[in-house]
Order: sequence, then C-alpha cells, then structure tokens
Amino acid sequence: MGGKMSGSAAEGWNKERVEIGVLGLGVVGSGTVQLLQRNRAEIERKIGIPFRIKRIAVRDLYKQRAVTVDRALLTTDAGEILDDPDIDIVCELIGGVDPAKEFVLRALRNGKQVVTANKEMIAKEGHLLMEEASARSLDFQFEGSVAGGIPIIQPMKNALAGNRVVEVMGIINGTTNYILTKMSQERANFGDVLREAQEHGYAEADPTSDIGGFDAQYKIAILASIAFTSRVHVQDIYVEGITGIEAADIEAARELGYVIKLVGIARRVDDDRMQVRVHPALLPQSHPLASTNGVYNAVLVRGDSVGDVMFYGRGAGSGPTGSAVVGDIMDVCRNLRSGSTGRVACTCFEHRSVQPIAEVVTRHYLRMTVEDRPKVLAAIATVLGENDISIESVVQKATHSGLAEIVWVTHEAPSLRVVQALEEIVRLDVVQSVANWIRVEA
Ligand code: HSE
Repeated sequence: MGGKMSGSAAEGWNKERVEIGVLGLGVVGSGTVQLLQRNRAEIERKIGIPFRIKRIAVRDLYKQRAVTVDRALLTTDAGEILDDPDIDIVCELIGGVDPAKEFVLRALRNGKQVVTANKEMIAKEGHLLMEEASARSLDFQFEGSVAGGIPIIQPMKNALAGNRVVEVMGIINGTTNYILTKMSQERANFGDVLREAQEHGYAEADPTSDIGGFDAQYKIAILASIAFTSRVHVQDIYVEGITGIEAADIEAARELGYVIKLVGIARRVDDDRMQVRVHPALLPQSHPLASTNGVYNAVLVRGDSVGDVMFYGRGAGSGPTGSAVVGDIMDVCRNLRSGSTGRVACTCFEHRSVQPIAEVVTRHYLRMTVEDRPKVLAAIATVLGENDISIESVVQKATHSGLAEIVWVTHEAPSLRVVQALEEIVRLDVVQSVANWIRVEA
C-alpha cells in the first residue's frame, strides 16, 4: 500500500505510517508477525494507514523460527525498541513478569502504546501498568492474555460494558481440558494422558502451571477484575488443579449425568464481595460449557441485561493468540489516527473482597471406599446430617473384597462444613478412604 492515507487526525500524532516494535518472537510473536505479513493489505485497508514492523527483539539471533523475517530486523537489545522515538506501538510478547514489566513501564514512560498477551504480568501488575498508561493517555491492550484467540477482554470492556456482570465462568486452560477430555473419552488415567500429551506437544515439559491451575488463576483474575470493576489479587484466588482427578471420578460423574471440567469462576456475591476461584467441577451434561472439549476454551458471561453470552474458540497457540494481538494492534492504530488513544482505561473503581473458599456454597460430590456391611451408609449419612449437609443422592458403585465404593452428591453447603464432615468421616472405622471431593456447579 503506497502513499499517504487520508484523514490522519491524531492529536500530536500525524505520521504517514505506524511503526511497530515487537519484543519476543516465540509462539505468540511468530503468530503475530506472520499474520501482519500475510494479511498486510487487508489490515492496512481496514485501519486506513500503512504499518511497518521496524524492529523485533529476540534472545537468540540465530534460532530457527516458525516465521520468516529479515535478519536485519532482529536485535538482542530491547532498548533499540523501547527507546526508539520513531516506534509508536510496542508489542510485549515475552511473557512472565521479569523483565516484561520493566520493559512495558519503560515503553509507556517513553510515550508508546503497548499491546501485550502476558497474563501473568497483567494479573499481578496490570493495575500499576494501566495507571501509567492512563496518566499519559496511552493505549494498553491485552486481549491475547486470556483465552488466546477468543475475543473476551474487548467485548467485556466495550460491547457488554453496559451490563452489571453477575458471573463469568470459563474453561480457560486448553492443556487441562485436553487431558480431562482424553481421560473421559478413553477412560484413561491422568498420568498416562499427561505423558501422551507431553509427547505430542499438547502439554509443556513442565506442566505445573497448567495442571496446577495457576495459568487459569491468572486468567480468571483478569476477567474478574473487568467483570466486577475491582482489582483482584491473585493470591486471594482459591486454586485447585486436576492432578487428583481419577478415571473413576469421570466415570462416576458420567453415570450421574455430569462431566468434570477445570473451571474458572468469578461470581458476584453482593455489592461488597465476589467469588473468584479455579477448581475442577462437575457440570451437568446440559451446561453450556460441558461440551467444550479438547484444547478448546469457552467463556460464559452472564450479564443483567444481555443474559448469557458464550465465547468459544482456541485458547492458545501461535495463530489464535496472534489473531488477538493483531486485533489489538489494529485498534491502537485507529486510535492513533483519530487522536483517541487511552480511550478505554482501567475500570477498577471499587474495592470488593474475595469470599473465602470456606464460605463458598456449592453442591458437592464425594467418593469414598467403605466396608460393604449394614449401617455403613447410615453412619456416614449421620455425620453429614450432623454437619447440616443434606444428601441429594447416593450411589453404591462397585463391591469387591468386602469393600464398596460410594458416591454422594449433596445439596448446597459451604465448603467449610464439608471439610469438617470429612474429618469425621475418615475417622469412622467402616470408612477405608475418601477418594475424592469435587464441587458441583449448576
Ligand atoms: N498453557 C495455556 C493452556 C495456554 O493450556 O491453555 C497459554 O495460556
């Protein structure tokens, strides 16, 4: 696309081309650069101005990459981007807090618009960075930080902004959803499926952040803070991963009409409190999120006016996350042209506390191995009853060597009461073990 575009109207910004600097050329960086290259003509027509990727900062100049770039664009010195007065937009695609946060701060202090896909940095330091951007009327966009290619940040900040959000619930980690789906489809054990997922590159060599629920913790922190216009501290979010889920739980859940998913939940409790939690949950097979399988992600937003809105798509990977980053870059380009950068600033106006998990009320699934003889069920039911936990259903699953597997589903009760009941139940002579306790969501 040659020549100057008409209508450039930025206040104090009146260039003929947008200059972009990219920090990081890994999975997301490659997807971003590839998309900007492949669809350049269409992108430029849509934003109404040409762009150039002026520089890309990498750790290793000679590494083989998934995208073909002119070697002359590469540098190992991030300062060549951060301190270059000609660069308008800095795309931070390194990930992690250190040194990404310092790079982003430096870019903002140098008056640059910033686009990032860094969930950990946004979840932990987003407030500080957004304040810095707001003070300078700069754009600071992070669509790629949650659920990869699924548009969720922009819709919540724009199209759905008129709603009072009641709840956001999502399957926001593809690795764990892939593992749970495989366990369910192949009736396989967690360890076997994890190994296979690692061999095929679906799970990281170090899968701790995914299977431990921490990746989802960052993402739900970001979604909750936007939904409830309140800052959410990552450390206040209850997290439980999927390592304790057994094939027997998935089977028992199926027989009861449920699937097991790792969910991130942000729910409004009242004006002052919110629930923000990540844990495996039984979802009824008819639940809108229940049929999200494999590496796919989905987010359900419940607004007071719109009702339920579902977002579904690929939550990770080069192409999908690159798509989100490029969407943000295009938005910034339009804002630069119209002189309206910094238009959508941080919306954390209020303070709401996160309800402690002990107080969170849900239904509960309990699976235990007990002696197969008279009065055993009655003994356990008595403990549940004494702890004010009402039973919805109980199923005896299997009997072998004088032992039976019992699955209980309770009516709603706070987690604390279940903890107290289980402490008593494991002490009963007739109970061999409590194999699992999983919350049940409606
Ligand atoms: N590891 C994440 C997932 C993708 O499995 O969904 C990046 O956030």
